[in-house]
Amino acid sequence: MKVLVIGSGGREHAIVLKLLESPRVEELWCAPGNGGISAVAHTAPVNVMDKEGMVALAKEKGIDFAVVAPDDPLAAGMADAFEEAGIPAFGPSAKAAVIEASKVFSKNLMKKYGIPTARYETFTDEQAAEDYVRAQNQYPTVIKADGLALGKGVIIAQNEEEAVEAIHSMMAEGKFGDSGKRIVVEEYLTGPEVSVLSFTDGKTVVPMVSSKDHKRALDGDEGLNTGGMGTIAPNPYYTPEVAKECMEKIFLPTIDAMNKEGRTFKGCLYFGLMITKDGPKVIEYNCRFGDPETQVVLPLLKSDLLTIMEAVHDGRLSEVPVEFSDGAAACVVIASGGYPVKYQSGYPISGLDEKGQAEGVTVYHAGTELKDGTFYTHGGRVLGVTATGATLDEALRKSYAAVETITFKDAHYRHDIGKIPAGNR
Ligand code: AMP
Ligand code: GLY
Repeated sequence: MKVLVIGSGGREHAIVLKLLESPRVEELWCAPGNGGISAVAHTAPVNVMDKEGMVALAKEKGIDFAVVAPDDPLAAGMADAFEEAGIPAFGPSAKAAVIEASKVFSKNLMKKYGIPTARYETFTDEQAAEDYVRAQNQYPTVIKADGLALGKGVIIAQNEEEAVEAIHSMMAEGKFGDSGKRIVVEEYLTGPEVSVLSFTDGKTVVPMVSSKDHKRALDGDEGLNTGGMGTIAPNPYYTPEVAKECMEKIFLPTIDAMNKEGRTFKGCLYFGLMITKDGPKVIEYNCRFGDPETQVVLPLLKSDLLTIMEAVHDGRLSEVPVEFSDGAAACVVIASGGYPVKYQSGYPISGLDEKGQAEGVTVYHAGTELKDGTFYTHGGRVLGVTATGATLDEALRKSYAAVETITFKDAHYRHDIGKIPAGNR
């Protein structure tokens, strides 16, 4: 089969490499792709939001199956566009992708169907939101922009001043554009966070191996929130008891709720969970594979990814095997110095070739460009260095050993990926 993957990050590189393991994949395209992806698959410079351009590319190349990976094109109806053109696609319709694209929608869905989540109110009026936080007078409190905001639309306010400032920046100053015109103000929860990616065809839901993201830029969970600086799988907090409770109280009820709303979800549904003292609660839903969660989850997948994706599309998920190996995986992201705020691109990367081939180590490219045989930095998150091992310790040791041999100017990575503090996160 000829397959087209849409997207350009480390997640897409991981999807591409896993699809290439399938004996059924005869030709693989990725658009727009990146430097690392262009070394293993065909790439084409089509903008990730260009629905017509992507469908035209798929027709020109005779694509049999498309995989839409990022949130923005899914929310804009990229999977629908392929379906309308007669090309089957993995990824939810725009109608179902709203579960990520609107936090107001997802919070109201959870309230309506009794799915555990933080208590909240939604606002379209700045004054009403301010009055509410003042009346609540409980800090920290969490202020969220309704729409997609590159993972940055969540502010945890420590006091009234910060809360009012956050509300004002979103609602009056348009910090996140239209995404912040509606906001959610919600209760601050504590407990370890767990990411669970799942395959679902709207009938069956199959959780993948659990993972843990490290979102803050600096060691010790200091610094700004990022797209993710590293991940481990499985997540030690996701015990079989927690998994059972999540299936009963969160995963199945969510699939049912989406069906009842006429928004059947088919694709990868990502549950961002917090294991609170009152049990697991949903922090967020994503309508897609996580990044960099995918870079530790897919290396542990033993089954054929294309076969699973097709089964999800066709509503036959219960008929195909979805098996993960017993080992562990760790991914350390190497970012450009200054990320997530301001950083330079265009630096040559050294040390890549040898380490890409090291046993059990895979270097996923997130933001690179390949020019005349050399990889250059081309984005905030540059590489995700993943290693697998029998234990998490082994995976982390291998990953960090590889990270230490890869360099570029101002490279930055966290030194504490996979260290689980006794306390909260
Ligand atoms: P989100 O974009 O919704 O995943 O939020 C980003 C991060 O903010 C999450 O990974 C949590 O660490 C934190 N967060 C979001 N909502 C809450 C909440 N209600 N209580 C505590 N932390 C939260
Ligand atoms: N790593 C978090 C996300 O993909 O949203």
